[in-house]
Amino acid sequence: MNLINSTKLAETITVSGNSRLEQYPSLLPQLKSLAEESDQFAALGNIISALKYGMSFFWVGLYVVKLKAKSEKLNVEPDSTFNIQNSELVLGPFQGTVACTRIGFGKGVCGSAWKNKKMVIVDDVNTFDGHIACSSESKSEIVLPVFGKTGDVVMILDVDSDQLADFTSTDELWLTEVVHIIESIVNR
Ligand code: SME
Repeated sequence: MNLINSTKLAETITVSGNSRLEQYPSLLPQLKSLAEESDQFAALGNIISALKYGMSFFWVGLYVVKLKAKSEKLNVEPDSTFNIQNSELVLGPFQGTVACTRIGFGKGVCGSAWKNKKMVIVDDVNTFDGHIACSSESKSEIVLPVFGKTGDVVMILDVDSDQLADFTSTDELWLTEVVHIIESIVNR
């Protein structure tokens, strides 16, 4: 079997510019293109990889809101069996070092963004009360909620840096656009 002829070549991600202000706009159309893959896991996996390696972040990943030990679905909308007390964040597609797999409601930076339905920037993870350390190399992070059709948080996007105070309103602005692409995948 000729592996080269029978295997589709991977997408190549090209990011231009020296600052994130220039890099994000060049990356975004490529993320939109990756989102066209019909399989949700495949599309999300590639988007996380493109974001991690395109922007040279230390760690990028999604945590998925799931019913405890019940559901394997990507997008858990509230129903009669769902409540915050019996749900948790579970590690989804990610790129980077091995990370903690389960985070409770309101716990750590991710659980806090889930509870408050708000983006969080942490300049120094050591000063964030309850921060969950997955790697001693992670110094600052930005965490954004991903919303489902009914306005509930269905995932958390977590981006970590090995530099202190590495995230600004530029990251908030552009990563919010990335979240909209992720929402277009999980809500279809
Ligand atoms: N630091 C996060 C946990 C996830 S890892 O950084 C990958 C938190 O406190 O929620």
